[in-house]
Amino acid sequence: MSKRTKILDLLQTAPGSDYTVMGWVRTFRNNQFIALNDGSCLANLQAVVDFENFDPSLLKRITTGAALKITGTLIPSQGKGQSVELKANAIEILGDCDVEVYPLQPKRHSLEFLREIAHLRFRTNTFSAVFRIRHALSYAIHKFFNDRGFVNIHSPIVTGSDAEGAGEMFQVTTLDLNNPPKNEDGSINFKKDFFGKATNLTVSGQLEAELAALALSEVYTFGPTFRAENSNTTRHLAEFWMIEPEVAFNDLDDNMDLAEDMLKYLIQYVMDHCEEDLSFLEQRLAEEEKQKPQQERSEMSLKEKLAFCLEHPFERLTYTEAIDILKNSTPNKKGKFQYPIEKWGADLQSEHERYLVEKHFKKPVILTNYPKEIKAFYMRLDDDGTTVRAMDVLFPGIGEIIGGSQREERYDVLLGRMKEMHIPAEEMSWFLDTRKFGTVPHAGFGLGFERLVLFVTGMTNIRDVIPFPRFPGNAEF
Ligand code: 4AD
Ligand code: MG
Repeated sequence: MSKRTKILDLLQTAPGSDYTVMGWVRTFRNNQFIALNDGSCLANLQAVVDFENFDPSLLKRITTGAALKITGTLIPSQGKGQSVELKANAIEILGDCDVEVYPLQPKRHSLEFLREIAHLRFRTNTFSAVFRIRHALSYAIHKFFNDRGFVNIHSPIVTGSDAEGAGEMFQVTTLDLNNPPKNEDGSINFKKDFFGKATNLTVSGQLEAELAALALSEVYTFGPTFRAENSNTTRHLAEFWMIEPEVAFNDLDDNMDLAEDMLKYLIQYVMDHCEEDLSFLEQRLAEEEKQKPQQERSEMSLKEKLAFCLEHPFERLTYTEAIDILKNSTPNKKGKFQYPIEKWGADLQSEHERYLVEKHFKKPVILTNYPKEIKAFYMRLDDDGTTVRAMDVLFPGIGEIIGGSQREERYDVLLGRMKEMHIPAEEMSWFLDTRKFGTVPHAGFGLGFERLVLFVTGMTNIRDVIPFPRFPGNAEF
């Protein structure tokens, strides 16, 4: 295609020489000014056309959405808004775009509309910024762990186990659903299935990460996870990406330190490397906020919110302390919570988490030592026998962004907990083996990647920070 210069690079180049650029037309004004975007950065390149030198039939094909190859001379710009522009010498139409049917017009479209045309929304400023930041975060996660000597483990996507014991799994099978092989008692005979047993998509890579951590000491996974929970919210996806570090010889305090260091590192990374996109999204959020009634508006801009998280230590307190705060809180007393907090043992809903973070402490919070009844079987039992060494990291506007724990490393206690919670121990001898052969204290957590992207970009719906969201009733694209 002959040498292409990226617009990102061209905008930082001194004028004087000739270049070839390729990209998509955002607008074409006055038969003269083409705003071209190639996704390398938010900014468009202005290409100036002397229309007398070009065939009118070619100029007609320069429409919003069309793909062009332009060769020209980089010159200082006369106009406002850019320091250089490209004086077009040759224009080639790579792909036409019929504006009569092209759904993206150079105007503001609603996020709901853009979600329906997710195959085209990459071409908007908002979504290109979101996905460049998503990439930067993904890279920064690997960098963070690599710099600290962690080993990246690829945990399986098809498994036979339910890591969370919550039963929210998508089954994987090649059996004929209309005529599955049966056992004598009428149940389905999974021995005849592809893997010779019932399998599902993984809900978490944690259990496999634990196996690796008990040899490599410091590991992490970063992969897709699947939950068949019927949650139609702005914070849940059926397919989402999770980062799960697991560290041998770490206790709950070490685990909290790692989580806080990691989150701060990732936020700082985006502030340092994604200035243009972040500024654009900050502006977008500010405009969205203006639509809200005064009392619901955020007091802080996006960048202020991010900086605020870096400046303050996260508040750490136990579930029991949190319940006391919530029980005595104004919204609880005034009946404003949809789920009133009546007694110790209640599961915390997003409204409670957000009250603690946004109203009470006004900063990120780490809650620990939850009742064992509302947490997974693998969490280490506290000495009182009623709580476990769990930790949830709660973020403003998001609620739970991380869930983790110190793990139960004592064979007998773990086996007892599995029985109590009806986890099929006989199918998980491989997990229990680690507690028989050189067991050690260890801890880890899971960071929901899309919830992090949501927080950093200031977007409000999790369906807008993953390219093609999967949620109940939707698996388009
Ligand atoms: O709290 P969860 O369920 O914890 C685990 O899966 C553990 N095995 C993690 C570990 O200790 N290794 O999920 C962890 C995080 C949540 O805090 C949340 O950020 C995110 O994953 N998450 C979801 N994100 C989007 N959509 C969903 N349906 C999610 N469910 C959990
Ligand atoms: Mg959780």
